[in-house]
Amino acid sequence: MIGVFDSGVGGLTVVQEIRKIMPTQDIIYFGDTARAPYGGKDTETLISHGREIISFFVSKGVKAVVMACGTSSSTSFEQLKREFDGLPIIDTIRPAVLATCELAAQKDIKPVFIATSATIKSGLFARLLAQKLPDIKLYTRACPLFAPMAEAGLGNNNPLVTFAAENYLADLKGKVNALILGCTHYPLFTDALGEVLGDIIFINPAVATARAAKEQLGARQCTEGDKAIIEYYTSGEPEGFGDLARVILGEGCSVEQWKNLGGGTSQ
Ligand code: DGL
Repeated sequence: MIGVFDSGVGGLTVVQEIRKIMPTQDIIYFGDTARAPYGGKDTETLISHGREIISFFVSKGVKAVVMACGTSSSTSFEQLKREFDGLPIIDTIRPAVLATCELAAQKDIKPVFIATSATIKSGLFARLLAQKLPDIKLYTRACPLFAPMAEAGLGNNNPLVTFAAENYLADLKGKVNALILGCTHYPLFTDALGEVLGDIIFINPAVATARAAKEQLGARQCTEGDKAIIEYYTSGEPEGFGDLARVILGEGCSVEQWKNLGGGTSQ
């Protein structure tokens, strides 16, 4: 069992990629919807939320954790890795840097990195990319309304989404040719983003994150017909979470509520 978490349903875009390359991997997913969005919170609060969630996973006996949240990854990863020494923790920012470097090795890219305010403020992605590709011109942009819009169930075609995408990014049309989706909710809006930016290559760090998880975990022994068990938990309202999750995953899932936040113990 591996634990995967996000502020809400965005991390399901990472679950999708994990399931493509590790179809028999058991997963316990936690969406912290009662405390979403994460993107405007300070580092101390985000570390505390991450600590509680990872403690919950540990009580469930997970062997690794995927922080399927760019905001937690860019603010809390180092600290929580130290605190949970010995537990493999995989983030989304380092895989995002790797994926950008891989594309840059094939093409001349002019990238923009979009993410939550906390992720952009941390500057982590830009710093790590500059270490690998010192000459690259990187644009960065905070898009704070996208994650709450996704949590509200708004889709690509919703006028509010297209309006926000225009406002955030229209001035970059023609200046960039690659877009790094630095928040795990954003792959849900690629149509709207493509409409604004035109001919653009999307870098979805979820793909490289799933790959990093597979490398950490190694191949799991499986027999034919072996099926993964996926347990879904939310700190918010399970019915609403389940409805959104069904749309994103394209299949039914039952969701349990886990409200024991602050104590760090499981129900
Ligand atoms: N999906 C998250 C991320 O990758 C969190 C977005 C939010 O809650 O603001 O950053």
